[in-house]
Amino acid sequence: MGNVILIGFMGCGKTTVGLKLSYRLRKTVTDTDKEIEKEEKRSISDIFAQDGEAYFREKETECLRRLTETAGNQIISVGGGLPMREINRELLGQLGQVVYLRAKAETIYERLKYDATRPLLQGERPQEKIRILMEQREPNYEKAADIIVDVDGKDFEQIVSEIERRL
Ligand code: S3P
Repeated sequence: MGNVILIGFMGCGKTTVGLKLSYRLRKTVTDTDKEIEKEEKRSISDIFAQDGEAYFREKETECLRRLTETAGNQIISVGGGLPMREINRELLGQLGQVVYLRAKAETIYERLKYDATRPLLQGERPQEKIRILMEQREPNYEKAADIIVDVDGKDFEQIVSEIERRL
C-alpha cells in the first residue's frame, strides 16, 4: 500500500488519526512538525518567533524531500500549511496516497480555542483568522488530495475506518 499522507487544516485531527491508523495498518507514523522540531531542537512556536514563517516553510520542503527518499510503508502527517507550495504538492504526490481530513471552520475553532501552540492563530480574532486561512487553503488541499474525508461530527474511530475502507 505504500505511504499514506494526512493533510488538512490545523486541528483537523491529523496527529491522532495518524496514530490510530498506524496501529490499524501496522505502519510506523511520522509527523513533519515533530521531525522539524527534533532537527531544530526547538518548538514550532520558537522557530516562528526566532526565524519567521519563511524559514519554517523551507524546513518543511527539506523535510518532505528527505521523506521522499527515505519513507516507505509509513503514515505521514504534515503541517497544515505544507500543501500550499506547489513543489510540496508534487512531492506529496510522489510520496504516496494523500488523504485530506476536511473540517469546517467552527469545528477547528472549537478544538483550538485554548491552544497556544499554533503561532498563526494567536492574538486577536482567531475565528476570523481561521476563516480567511481556510478559504485560501481549501483549493490547495483539494488539489493535493487523492481521498477527501469529512470529519465534522465524526469520532476518530469512524474517521479511521472510513480511511481504511477507501484506501
Ligand atoms: C501550520 C500548522 C501547524 C504547524 C505550524 C504552521 C499552518 O501544524 O506546521 O504551526 O500553517 O497551518 P498542524 O497542522 O499540525 O497544527
